[in-house]
Amino acid sequence: MTTTKTYRLTAVAPDAFAETCARVLFETVKNKPDAVIGLSTGRTTGDIHRRFAALVRAHNLDVSRLTIFGLDEVTGVSRDYFGACVWMLEHECVNDLGIAPENFLMLPLTSDDWERDCDAFRAELARRGGITLLELGLGENGHIGFNQPGTPFEQRAFHGRMHDYLEARIRRETGTPDDIPLGGVTLGIADVMDAHEIMLCVNGAHKKQALTDALWGPVTTDLPATALQAHPNLRIICDTDAAPDPV
Ligand code: GLP
Repeated sequence: MTTTKTYRLTAVAPDAFAETCARVLFETVKNKPDAVIGLSTGRTTGDIHRRFAALVRAHNLDVSRLTIFGLDEVTGVSRDYFGACVWMLEHECVNDLGIAPENFLMLPLTSDDWERDCDAFRAELARRGGITLLELGLGENGHIGFNQPGTPFEQRAFHGRMHDYLEARIRRETGTPDDIPLGGVTLGIADVMDAHEIMLCVNGAHKKQALTDALWGPVTTDLPATALQAHPNLRIICDTDAAPDPV
């Protein structure tokens, strides 16, 4: 007998995608005002975050005890670069929500001791009760955060290289010369797996294969998101363009 793994997967029309994801963030805060919510940055999530902030404002929700943190960060760039994750999250929702600086946690853009700073970041999340909900985007090659193919599933938060295409883009956009190092710092896959709940957000036909492989392909570090198959509380929200074909 063959069994097909089933998931809590919601596929919605493309124009309902961001709002559907935003509602999950909103409901999480409504049910747990001291929630610790991790956010991903990129093309997928900007609109989700703006709608999340709008929902919170429309319902006058108290977010004074809410913690928001970033899953990852590009390093070696300035804080006001529009591609820095801290800049994106501030402009997409953190400023609008009025989150106090002490409740907005980001991995640093520069460090003289990445191991120390990554450990401190993880410790602070643990001190706040761990991750209530982690919003994840999905790379076309199956990466999550800066966990590129090949990253061990046991990996904790770390600083490493960024993908070549991203590095080239950031150098172009910031005018950063080649002799100044750029990198990426991220929660590791083991940290991701410790989240109480994960919401994987995927849209667009270009992500359909990656999503299908992530959910039903062989579990392998070649496709980091396959680690999520073992998560006990995973929810997937995709649009109909990215939705895996019925299996
Ligand atoms: C980026 C980020 C991730 C993001 C993912 C998908 O490199 N480091 O946090 O979730 O890749 O990005 P996008 O939504 O732009 O496709």
